[in-house]
Amino acid sequence: MTKHKPVILIGMMGVGKTSVGKLLASALACDFVDVDKKIVAAEGKTIPSIFENHGESYFREIEANTIEKLVACDQRVVIATGGGAVMTPRTADLIWYKGVSVWLQSDVTVLLKRIGTDPNRPLLQEKDAADVLKKLEKARSPVYKRADIHVISGVEPLEITLKKVLEKLDAFTK
Ligand code: S3P
Repeated sequence: MTKHKPVILIGMMGVGKTSVGKLLASALACDFVDVDKKIVAAEGKTIPSIFENHGESYFREIEANTIEKLVACDQRVVIATGGGAVMTPRTADLIWYKGVSVWLQSDVTVLLKRIGTDPNRPLLQEKDAADVLKKLEKARSPVYKRADIHVISGVEPLEITLKKVLEKLDAFTK
């Protein structure tokens, strides 16, 4: 039953998956899990250091394993994934088939304001962050589009985005 499936937030880095996810979990009275945080705790390393020491493909492998475990429990939980998770086919299958997927989308200008200089985003380091974000968005949007639910999250307060997610989720799970 859809009502018992995990709600999985996807979308570009900086779009607000963690912030909206926490509010959403509280509104749905269920647990919230941030996949990146789980990985950091399990590996005992920051995301940039995992990328640097083991490479992105290692990160994608543990990201897929982490999501696989999280969606295995047949109960409602809100999961915030990293922006690139959907680009790994195994992870994408878990997201599309085991959960209700919610794509949060913001303009690159909004993303850039939020995270342009964040040292915790390895993919944005040592390069023109605007250019990187634009290219990633172009490559990922066709995949994000597969989500069950699509919500535009601009510069409005988080509560407004939350309201939009809750309304669409309600309509989807009816
Ligand atoms: C990534 C986004 C990050 C994190 C890693 C890779 C990406 O998560 O998983 O740095 O490929 O877009 P957030 O989307 O939470 O920033």
